[in-house]
Amino acid sequence: MKIILGVGGGIAAYKAAELARLLMQENHEVQAVMTAAAQEFVRPLTFAALTGRKVLTDLFAIESAIEHISVAQEHELLAIAPATADLIAKMALGLADDFLTTLYLAFTGTVVIAPAMNVNMWEHPATQANLQTLRLRGHRIVEPESGYLACGMTGPGRLADPETIAEAIRRESQKRRDFEGETVLVTAGPTQEPLDPVRYISNRSSGKMGYALAEAAAARGARVILISGPVHLAPPRGVELVPVRTAVEMREKVFEHLGPASIVVKAAAVADFHLSKVPDHKVKKTAARISLELDPTPDILAELGRKKGDRVLIGFAAETQNLAQEARRKLDSKNCDMVVGNLVGASESGFESDLNEVILVMRTGETVALPRALKREIADRIFDQVLKLRLALHAAHGR
Ligand code: CTP
Repeated sequence: MKIILGVGGGIAAYKAAELARLLMQENHEVQAVMTAAAQEFVRPLTFAALTGRKVLTDLFAIESAIEHISVAQEHELLAIAPATADLIAKMALGLADDFLTTLYLAFTGTVVIAPAMNVNMWEHPATQANLQTLRLRGHRIVEPESGYLACGMTGPGRLADPETIAEAIRRESQKRRDFEGETVLVTAGPTQEPLDPVRYISNRSSGKMGYALAEAAAARGARVILISGPVHLAPPRGVELVPVRTAVEMREKVFEHLGPASIVVKAAAVADFHLSKVPDHKVKKTAARISLELDPTPDILAELGRKKGDRVLIGFAAETQNLAQEARRKLDSKNCDMVVGNLVGASESGFESDLNEVILVMRTGETVALPRALKREIADRIFDQVLKLRLALHAAHGR
């Protein structure tokens, strides 16, 4: 593999030399990039000798005027070790004032980040918020170890062992492209059902689970079509976003884009009822009480179940009770291959949260419980199960 090793300016920079050696031993091509601060701790010559390549350091060197772009395009994985609090903050914000941070912005491959810093800097809410941003972007953070730090304090902040970082790189590179050739259609977010030109009915879905699924599938090499209700999230890099508002619009776009899809994930919280005839003008406060008469929306998942053909169809069941039972009922009644069930209403998971805790109910009869984790992590576990499930279903059909 072609790997960029970005070295940040911390006392742990010397350990990055050991990481470079390990990666070279595994026959990777390693291109080292050092920040100005990193060169205060270790000389570029160390990395040049270990990797057999000129170390990139200067954004303004004549020969490297656009090199950060070509280097970004030519490599598959960017490992940053040690990642200082400053580098992490710059990456989270998208600041690009040197070779490494500019290259990071231009880079579209897999990113592995191994932080190292003083324990108070590590625990600072700013650093933790920045790390969370990077995790949600799908980057792999190799947690620092706890122990005696160069500053004389004890606690988390020590760069992970080079062997541990190399192992994380190995794992990330293996799962990188296992969805190549797939087209994944994901629906996400709530729908809004208008009551008049200024009011609507909706629900608490933030879209975070669906966007995490879209991000994960794209990171693993799939073409991703993301049909999204109104949310406050930036679309993940590389996905084709199709914005919609109502259940009826979502249905229309789903069937318009179904053709090439091999996997369909219905993570959207689609409204079950709507006003089929929306007044043209704002409803006035003239009566003491009004009542709404609502009609059912089209059940997109059920229709997909009837028309899915060979596709893997994944539904969602957000429940406040009887989770497993309800998830299995929906799997059967809507002809899904998998239903992801989650309890909503509980704190710290489900709607609006970055975390989720789900069960996967499968057509094969199997049920898998995924413990509470970041939605981005849950998304990868769901896709791991999709691959297994498809193999099991093909084997059962003798294909
Ligand atoms: N769904 C859909 N179209 C609808 C309603 C729901 O495609 N009009 C999909 C959702 O995207 C989700 C799944 O159906 O994948 C489950 O949604 P939910 O509202 O929990 O299911 P319902 O069938 O409405 O079941 P119930 O209201 O009985 O819980």
